Amino acid sequence: MNCIKMSENVFQLKVNIEEPGYLFEGLWPVPNGVSINSYLVKGEKTAIIDLTQDIYDLTQSFELQLEQAGAGLEALDFVIINHMEPDHSGLLRDLAKRNSTCRFVCSKKAAPLLEQFSSVPMDRVDTVEDGDSLDLGHGMVLHFHLIPNVHWPETMATYLDRAKILFPCDAFGSYGAVKDQVFDDQLSEERAAFFEQEALRYYANIVATFSPFVEKAINKLDSLEINVIAPSHGIVWRKDPAVIINHYKRYASYAKGPAEPEVCLVWASMYGNTGKSIASLIKGIRSEGVDITVFRAPQDDLGHMLAAAWKSAGLVFAMPTYEYKMFPPMAQVIEDLMVKKIKNRKVLRVGSYGWVGGAEKDFRKKTEKAGWDIMDSIEFQGCPTDSDLCAMEEAGKELAQKIKQFCNQA
Ligand SMILES: Cc1cc2nc3c(=O)[nH]c(=O)nc-3n(C[C@H](O)[C@H](O)[C@H](O)COP(=O)(O)O)c2cc1C
Ligand SMILES: [Fe+2]
Ligand SMILES: [Fe+2]
Repeated sequence: MNCIKMSENVFQLKVNIEEPGYLFEGLWPVPNGVSINSYLVKGEKTAIIDLTQDIYDLTQSFELQLEQAGAGLEALDFVIINHMEPDHSGLLRDLAKRNSTCRFVCSKKAAPLLEQFSSVPMDRVDTVEDGDSLDLGHGMVLHFHLIPNVHWPETMATYLDRAKILFPCDAFGSYGAVKDQVFDDQLSEERAAFFEQEALRYYANIVATFSPFVEKAINKLDSLEINVIAPSHGIVWRKDPAVIINHYKRYASYAKGPAEPEVCLVWASMYGNTGKSIASLIKGIRSEGVDITVFRAPQDDLGHMLAAAWKSAGLVFAMPTYEYKMFPPMAQVIEDLMVKKIKNRKVLRVGSYGWVGGAEKDFRKKTEKAGWDIMDSIEFQGCPTDSDLCAMEEAGKELAQKIKQFCNQA
């Protein structure tokens, strides 16, 4: 990987994590990889904005690129820490040891984390307030804007006014390894669509819980004239930064609902009885021309499920009763949807039971705070009868109609 010159004296340094089976944040599969981007700005003094993770051989590649950009860890004057999550700060501990003079610039909330996570002595840390700036000389001035809780409390964005580049760290980021095509204007239509999917899944997995803060951050940064958005994951937006801003606005709005007129259906089944209902549900939903994405728990990946659920106005859950409660893999899915605060959806639940059931009560209890509009559930003992299957097709159709109405009203 080579460093990329973005404009006069501004460079991007980038690594890709593509190891098979790697879980981002120890949790989320990234089958298409993920990039970690940082940026070097040279004035009279040199600053690096965000660092890289300290795994595999990433730091080695990172340092080579730093040298290509005409710097080296030892030559840095300032290290700007927009965000202390270790995917961007892993190298910090080593850097602080090898470079004994550079200053570390971060928000007040980040300062104790620098010490706790990376043993950076506090007398080397300069904290900044919202709106503060740092003059690197030769007209290169960095401005700092606090954007707390996108997605950690200490987060800030850095803005280079000369080139009108915003470095917002995780905000406006996406999954997906980035190779030769680094900028939005280099992407084919297909690659642009790929990165939109990767941005949605990144958002749903990493940022979704903090959507009200994303909206606040976007409103706050609105006053800046932005020519380029250079996030810490994914591609750089220089042709039209409004594209990713609008995607993020839309994703944040899904938190309150309604989202897109689509359905995310998740099903789980031990012996196939609940599984027999899926075709009828899909048929009913599709009969109204509503798109549906189908997942099975626990076989399918939660990260992809969350992305589909986040953008869908309708949710369908099909699961049997297990020890008087929901079948555990589905209970896990529901819990994760609650953590992500997926609210205000049109919802249908179906499922099989053996003797007295219990999944229904458990489901209602665990979702009561979500503000979901839940239709009458369809439960059946053992195998669904033809009349159960008809009822499910009807219910699917009714759900799809409700969704269309819900989305049209918004
Ligand atoms: C381990 C286990 C626990 C179960 N617990 C309950 C229960 O608490 N209440 C109930 O009504 N049925 C219970 N059942 C019966 C299942 O809900 C029933 O067999 C159902 O048809 C399974 O649907 P499936 O084929 O979609 O997995 C249990 C079944 C198994 C295997
Ligand atoms: Fe992060
Ligand atoms: Fe990150």
